[in-house]
Amino acid sequence: MTTTLTVHAGETLGTISPYLHGHFAEHLGRCCYDGIFVGRDSPIPNRDGFRTDALDALKVMGVPQLRWPGGCFADSYHWRDGIGPVESRPRTWAESCGENVVEDNALGTHEFIAYCAALGADPYLAGNVGSGSPQEMMDWVHYCNGAADTTLARERAANGHPDPMGVKFWGVGNENWGCGGNYDAEAYAKEYKRYATFIKQMDSSVQLVACGFNERDWNLKLVEAMRNHLGLMDHVSVHQYWTFGPALGFSEEEYYNSMRAAALVEDVITYTDEILRFFVAGRRRVGIAFDEWGIWHPEANIGARYEAPSTLRDAVAGAGVLDVFHRWSDRVSTGNIAQIANVLQASVQTRGAEMWLTPTYHLFALYAPHRGGRAVRAEWESAPARDLAASTHWTTSLPTGAVPLVSASASHRDGRLAVSLSNRHRTDAQEVVLSLRGLQTTGGTLRTMSGPPDAANSADAPETVAVRETRIDATGDTVTLALPPCSVQTLVLAAG
Ligand code: AHR
Repeated sequence: MTTTLTVHAGETLGTISPYLHGHFAEHLGRCCYDGIFVGRDSPIPNRDGFRTDALDALKVMGVPQLRWPGGCFADSYHWRDGIGPVESRPRTWAESCGENVVEDNALGTHEFIAYCAALGADPYLAGNVGSGSPQEMMDWVHYCNGAADTTLARERAANGHPDPMGVKFWGVGNENWGCGGNYDAEAYAKEYKRYATFIKQMDSSVQLVACGFNERDWNLKLVEAMRNHLGLMDHVSVHQYWTFGPALGFSEEEYYNSMRAAALVEDVITYTDEILRFFVAGRRRVGIAFDEWGIWHPEANIGARYEAPSTLRDAVAGAGVLDVFHRWSDRVSTGNIAQIANVLQASVQTRGAEMWLTPTYHLFALYAPHRGGRAVRAEWESAPARDLAASTHWTTSLPTGAVPLVSASASHRDGRLAVSLSNRHRTDAQEVVLSLRGLQTTGGTLRTMSGPPDAANSADAPETVAVRETRIDATGDTVTLALPPCSVQTLVLAAG
């Protein structure tokens, strides 16, 4: 079967902020502790407590932004517990997603900021609304960013960071409709205004993220309540997880349903955008911060500390989500997959001193050429699709519908065109004729990841899913590609 993808180089959709390829690290399961942080005294090789294998691998993949410390953890986290000499930090009883553990606070603000610097990531901190106060969050912002000679800034300097940390992104709570305090939308909006008023008075340079929902009604009430206080709100956050059968041993129907993740994400973006357009009415730019997303397998439950095998299926579905973010790059301001290590749709997984890269890691590495590029319209001509019946999988309900068997996005920058394409067909290769409107190419490179949908890497077989690179010799305005079944690829062409 042959399909045509036309890339309209003259039709710009937006600039692909590197933040759309952001990540999320929560004090949950083995994400932060074990996954990225093992402590200075660990026998696992580390740099200032951060395991070197994960740090080096994540630097190669690229982590443009990292959100921390939660998640649900954020609304019971008190930042003062995580500063000062490690040996004097309190041992607290921490909670997130039903998991209660002793938290020794060894990974605190200074460690996290140093990790971001080592990764080349911009930090995004989530504040505590549920069990905190506006004063506590203001103090955290001031402790991190204050430039004046105040007691808090002196304390930061005494703790090893004389210069302001320059943390731009701050979440005012997390999922406050649920784990973050079980607010209703109006009550949260009232609380948000208190927090945002005082934080912005103290540091007008920060960007504040209000907590939205993957439910239209909450977002409508929240944004309506903020309509006369828009200066206080820079972004509205939304989250979307999905579940379609087990992590391994899934059926054909479950496989194809998981490709509908992109449509779920696009639906949330579409109605949140409509609400923002209506109430904001061009008076200000309020972005959509998609600051948690990913597949949540039923096996990734509390008993498994939210871990499950990570397969090629997950990465192919994730490619569709990144394509949606690229298409909406003028409206979506951040995208943070959950989570960076071990937990949920992780990029790296660990077992003791061993670490391996998941197909999702390779997905982000494949999409790296788009960061900072100009998203341009890429349109399929009669894309093949598969009809699916209505179904419910644990928390995810889907209507009858068709899922496209291909997905793509394209960006242009400095004479270079990047086109990412996925073939979602489980068993069949597909031929794609790439037609360039307004560009001529002299060829380039193609990087591909493909294999059986349930292929996964592990400590014992870390290279089962890997990326291979080939040279594409093409001239003119057409390139023909054969996409293997269940594959993601990025083509980077010299094109002007
Ligand atoms: O990512 C795991 C959890 O999912 C987060 O703590 C919470 O925000 C969401 O419900």
